Order: sequence, then C-alpha cells, then structure tokens
Amino acid sequence: MYMASKGARHEAEIPPWTWLRNRLWRLNFLLGRLLFANMDPLSHHVRSILFKLRVRAKASWKPRGDVLFAAEELKQDGYVLLKGAFSPGLVGHIREKVTEALAKTEGRLTRQHAAPDGNHYSWYLKDLATVVPEVQELLTDELIAAVEHHYRSYVRVSKVKCYRNYSVPEKVYAQRELHSNRWHFDHHRGAGLLKIFYLVNDVTDADGPFCLQPRPRTLFLMRNKFGDRDDYRLPMSVMEDPEHVFKLTGPAGTAVVCDTTICLHRASKVAPGRHRDIVQFQLRPSSTPLPSNWFEDPQVTYLSDALLGIREHPTHPTVERRR
Ligand SMILES: [Fe+2]
Repeated sequence: MYMASKGARHEAEIPPWTWLRNRLWRLNFLLGRLLFANMDPLSHHVRSILFKLRVRAKASWKPRGDVLFAAEELKQDGYVLLKGAFSPGLVGHIREKVTEALAKTEGRLTRQHAAPDGNHYSWYLKDLATVVPEVQELLTDELIAAVEHHYRSYVRVSKVKCYRNYSVPEKVYAQRELHSNRWHFDHHRGAGLLKIFYLVNDVTDADGPFCLQPRPRTLFLMRNKFGDRDDYRLPMSVMEDPEHVFKLTGPAGTAVVCDTTICLHRASKVAPGRHRDIVQFQLRPSSTPLPSNWFEDPQVTYLSDALLGIREHPTHPTVERRR
C-alpha cells in the first residue's frame, strides 16, 4: 500500500511533457527492435535508409565483376570471412611493424579513464599512417569493389585503428565490462557502418578472439527476447552455443567484413600472459569514389586522447538499458 502511494506520487511529479517524451522514446526503440531486430530506434533506421538512398542517387557508381565476395553473402549472414586474401609478405610486414610500435611507450595511447584497478588493458597506435603505412594495402581494389556492391554506391573509410587487448584479471572484469566483451550491437552513429577486423598475429581461443552471432542467429535471439549487454535475459548455453557463434581465430592475415549494427558481437577474454592485436577499418557509403590518398587524412588514421575518451565503455546504464 505504502509502495503504491509512493509510486503514484512519483508519477505525479513528472511533468506531462517529460512523461510523453519518455513514452515516445520507448516506442521509438520498440518499433526499431520489432522492425529491424537490433537496438537502434526507428528514427535512426529511417534516417539511415534515407541517407543511403540519397548517396546512391548521387553516386555514378557502376558494378564491377572482380569482387572478393558476393554482396548477398554479407547481407544474408551479416559477415564474410576473408582467408588468405593478403600476400604473406604484406601480412609479415604489418605484424613486424605493429609489434615493434606497440612495444614502445611513445606513439601509443590508451583510454583516458583507467580500469577500476588503475591499469590500462588496451593500447592503440596513435599515428597509424606514419608507423605502419602498409595497412592501406589491406584495402585492395577487390575488397573495395565488394563493399561497394553491398552499398550499391562508393565507399569511404571513416576510421582505421590498430590496437592490442591484454588479459584482464577476473576481479576487474567483475567490476566493469572492458574490451566490449559482452554481447551488443554497435549503434547507428552514421548510416551504413561496416567494419573489417584484421588479425595482426595468429589468434587462438586463448587470445580473446572477436565473436559474432550471424544475422540469422541474431534474429533468433532478438525474437526470443534478448535483453541487452547488461542482462541478456537468455541462458548462456543459448548465447554461447558453439554451433552458431562465429569466432575470428586463425593465422595472421585472416579478416572478417561485418555489419556490427545488425549482428550481436563481442570480444573474448584474453588468457593471462597473452594479447591480441587487431587492425579495424570502419567503412561508410559515399557518393564519391574513395580517393587514392585516403590514408593521408589524419582524421582517418590518427587517434587522440579525446577520441579514445569518448569511446570509454559506459560505467552507467547504456542507452538500451535506460529505455
Ligand atoms: Fe561493438
């Protein structure tokens, strides 16, 4: 009785316009989830669709025959695995240079806020274009053509990052999520986000591989009331069913192209004494062809403290949790 009256008083204290705004925001998320089976609100999907249509209309793009994978494969599964797509020489050069650069304290960055124990467990190369220029060769003409088929327009690179994840003690994990190691979607900060994850070194289960639920499995989980990254509301045996989870393991040079806005994904825990180095490309649709000097744009290849700061993992409830 007491609780009920307290609740009623609390409701009465909320101004009507705030109440309405909250309800509309919740409806926005609910419709986004029902229609698109991810965690973005409907308004973001509409904005994204309109943007892609506008870009396609403006781009004088023509399909090419020599593509690395079919656009349908990426659309249907949400990811495409690239094995042996890069020359052993290129893979070796990138491995050597990244290993050397990450061993030096100057020229690398970490998140502004340390883990709860005061340590940092992820390190990023600050100036990729200067330190490992070979990374630009990973974006081959065939790969660009394949992604263009997916977009049905040109492609632009919004960011390239190279980073290392280290092992995190269990007691630190217990306090806060690190390395994005819980199942989640990336949000539509911009329309048509695709990511490429490239393995700098050989990666096994012990090195904290990137994991992804293919699109059909993500649809199944969403229809079966997946909650959010803080509370899955589904048994771990379902979430981690090895029959369905894709793991990015394999020799150096293995890569995956994936849509992390429609596929649940996470990083894995790194075993003590191990680490995992990744090069990550973030791609978007564009109305103009990718310029040959795209790698010279510091906004694409250079990391700053501020950029890493705003990418800090939430210590408070996430957007989907608040809705
Ligand atoms: Fe993510």
